Amino acid sequence: MKKFLIIPSILSANFARLGEDIVRVISAGADVIHFDVMDNHYVPNLTMGPMVLNALREYGITIPVDVHLMVKPVDKLIADFAAAGANYITFHPEASEHIERSLQMIKELNCQAGLAMNPATSLYCLEYIIDKVDIILLMSVNPGFGGQSFLPMTLKKIQQARKIIDQNNLNIRLEVDGGVTLENIGSIAHAGADAAVAGSAIFCQNKQNYAAVISAMRNEI
Ligand code: DX5
Ligand code: ZN
Repeated sequence: MKKFLIIPSILSANFARLGEDIVRVISAGADVIHFDVMDNHYVPNLTMGPMVLNALREYGITIPVDVHLMVKPVDKLIADFAAAGANYITFHPEASEHIERSLQMIKELNCQAGLAMNPATSLYCLEYIIDKVDIILLMSVNPGFGGQSFLPMTLKKIQQARKIIDQNNLNIRLEVDGGVTLENIGSIAHAGADAAVAGSAIFCQNKQNYAAVISAMRNEI
């Protein structure tokens, strides 16, 4: 069976000691690091650019980095993040003028290409491009902030996306992002996800014992 990936979102890490926090969460068992890029345009918040990723790579972050672009337009930043050390680059179809071209750009830069689907975005928008996608990132909150509550309607969407992937015999990773907790990660995995992004559940708990949270999450799967 494929390993279920636990992907901490560093949006909830301490920005004053980001490198240290990431090293700690990697030794606590993180499989991939999720890097949320917000532009105060596509979403009402502002976070990190490629220079920050580049600095983290130089600091010694070696595991895969999953860049989630919540920016509009997307294309210029694709090249910048690939150069800064992204492994996976995901964008929102609503933010790209030419979705197929943006996917192609990501692949030409030797990164895996992902499409992020907002809670109200239909899976129908995958119809003509699903074979060009490596990752489907199902948003279980409206993008823009960490610490929001999981929207329960996402469970049905996970099942539907899983069905589409399996029926077409595709090797697509199904990631869920937003409001993931120890309480709901079991049902997220059970519904058919391959990976869960978790920010506040890992970084904001009281004792900051990342290893304990990550292994408790694994026990729920
Ligand atoms: C939301 C971001 C998420 C967020 C998850 O716009 O894309 O990755 O950081 O944080 P939690 O797990 O706190 O919802
Ligand atoms: Zn994200």
